[in-house]
Parts: sequence; C-alpha cells; structure tokens
Amino acid sequence: MAILVLGGAGYIGSHTVFELIDKGEDVVVADNLQTGHRESVHSKARFYKGDIRDEAFLNDLFKKENISSVIHFAANSLVGESMTDPLKYYDNNLYGTMILLKSMISNGIDKIVFSSTAATYGEPESIPILETDKTEPTNTYGETKLSMEKMFKWVSQAHGLRYVSLRYFNACGAHISGKIGEDHSPETHLIPLILQVPNGKREFVSIFGDDYKTKDGTCIRDYIHVTDLAQAHIQAVKYLAEGNKSDIFNLGNGVGFSVNEVIETARKVTGHPIPAKISPRRAGDPAILIASSKKAKNILGWKPKHDSLEEIIETAWRWHKNHPDGYNS
Ligand code: UFG
Repeated sequence: MAILVLGGAGYIGSHTVFELIDKGEDVVVADNLQTGHRESVHSKARFYKGDIRDEAFLNDLFKKENISSVIHFAANSLVGESMTDPLKYYDNNLYGTMILLKSMISNGIDKIVFSSTAATYGEPESIPILETDKTEPTNTYGETKLSMEKMFKWVSQAHGLRYVSLRYFNACGAHISGKIGEDHSPETHLIPLILQVPNGKREFVSIFGDDYKTKDGTCIRDYIHVTDLAQAHIQAVKYLAEGNKSDIFNLGNGVGFSVNEVIETARKVTGHPIPAKISPRRAGDPAILIASSKKAKNILGWKPKHDSLEEIIETAWRWHKNHPDGYNS
C-alpha cells in the first residue's frame, strides 16, 4: 500500500517524500503547484497535479491508488499574507481540509498526519511551550490551523478516523544531498533571507527589533531541521498504523537562538561578513518561542538528529549557494 503526501512538492512535504522513499515506502504525491515545485518531487514518487478542494480529483486518486495513510501539507503558510487575505487561508486551509476529510471518509481512508504550527499558541503563557498550553492565535494562519485541528477532533469522534497533528516551530535547513531545499516566493523566513547576503542577492539583513526582553534584545526561536520534521511524520504514520489514538505533538529542538546568534552562525558558516541593520519590530512577533518536545520524544520516540545551528545553516547554505534562484536556478 502507498502513503499519499498532499503538498508533497512544498518545502517540508518534499523532504518528507525523500525520507519515505529512503525507507522503501511506496509514495504518491498530489500538489496543485500553487507554491510547490514539481522539480522537488522525488523521481520515485507517483505525482498527480490537483487541488485538495477538488473532491472529484481526490475521489479519483483514492480509487486509482491503494492508500494506507495520508500526510497532509497542502496549505498556505505565510503569516503576513494571512492577515491581508484571510479568506484565502480559510478557503485553502480549512475548506480544503473539509473536502479532503469528506473524500477520505467516503473512500474508507482512516489515518492522517498533518501540519500544524506553533502559531496555534499565539503569545506563549510560559516557556517551553507545552501542547496543553492555551491556544490563542494572533494571526489568521494560526487560527485556520487550530480550526483544522478542531475539525479533525470532531470528525474523528463521528467517523472513527484517527489523526496526528504536528505543531512545527521554525522549520529550516535543507536535505543533506543539497538536491532540495527552501524556495518561497516571496521569502519571509530569517535563514534564507540571511543567506541571500552572501549569495549577492541582498546587501544586508534586517533585524526586526532589538529591544525585546531577551538576552541580546532580539527575538528567540526554536529552529528545527526539516529532515527531523520529516522523520517525525514517518514516526507518526507508524504510530497510527500500530493502532494508537489521535494526538497533538510539538516539534522543536527545545533550544532557542536569538536573531543575532543565527546571523553570527551564518557568518561563521559562509565566511561572509553579512551586514545587519536594526529595523522596527515586525507586528505580531512574540519575543520567545521554544517548544517542549518531550511528548513527541516519549510517545512517538522522535529525536532530532540535526540539532546544531551550524549544521542547520550548513545544509541551508549548501542548497542556497548552488540554487541562488531556488528551483529556477
Ligand atoms: N526576522 C528578522 N529579520 C528578517 C526575517 C525575520 O529579524 O528579515 C526575525 C523575526 O522577527 C523572528 C525570527 O527572525 O523573530 C524568525 O522569523 P521567521 O519569519 O523566519 O519565522 P517566524 O518565527 O516568524 O515564523 C515561524 C513559522 C511560521 C509560524 C510561526 C509561529 O515560519 O509558519 O513561526 O509563530 F507561523
């Protein structure tokens, strides 16, 4: 039987497909290529171009392929865009997931692992953040992901489907081979923006605020390697296949780095001075986000392997140096 990866041409999806194939799994990928890249899909995966809001497309796919479990990455994920175009997020993330669930139920597919986010918590009540902490998203993106989680909860009660929701902290890095990596347009994430400087694409990187109540005044985040995230999905699929109950897990390293520390590490890794300028705070940025991943470690048996910031930035740099224009390079 095959594993269906929805959004398998996106950043985290494509890395998960590589790891699944590495483990000898049969993999089917569906992606509408709105933000994904066909070139990032492993050649051993069977690819279907289509949209999760298209029920006929999904029904057809479930009839053609013998699917055991679904991994669902197909969503829009830009916090800023979600505030200026909230209905796009309700449409793709929430309505899309509703259609997907309808199709899964009518085709008898009863296991799904899906992408959630640290943005479901909003401003944290304490650090490290636990899965049981309050969830009050401060942006539409986080709100739609939290609503997806709730939709899964009620649908699982009614129809017996089981799910695992994975709340990612700051996904970063690239596949060790340098073949696939991060390519967003527009790019808003810190590490790819920093690496645009040594790549000659930008003169300096902006530091969004240096007056936070942190050790050096800049925001602290929990950076987690994309390959470690990919492994967590594989373990979550196994966990459901063994008959375990639906659950929600944080995915992070449990260690925080400041924006200054990330820039300093990138200087070491690239050997480039990477000039930085202080600019105003970005609206909606919490000062500190660090995960407690104890639950994923204890229950899923997940342990991040690429947890040094140097290694994270080295793998990202290997990809960006050789692909300055992403998949168009
Ligand atoms: N930052 C800068 N300069 C930049 C870009 C970012 O200083 O040019 C800072 C941000 O202010 C933040 C940190 O670098 O403090 C990381 O920013 P990212 O945009 O890379 O990531 P976020 O922490 O904002 O976002 C991540 C995920 C989102 C998720 C969010 C949860 O990428 O999907 O965490 O809060 F919603």
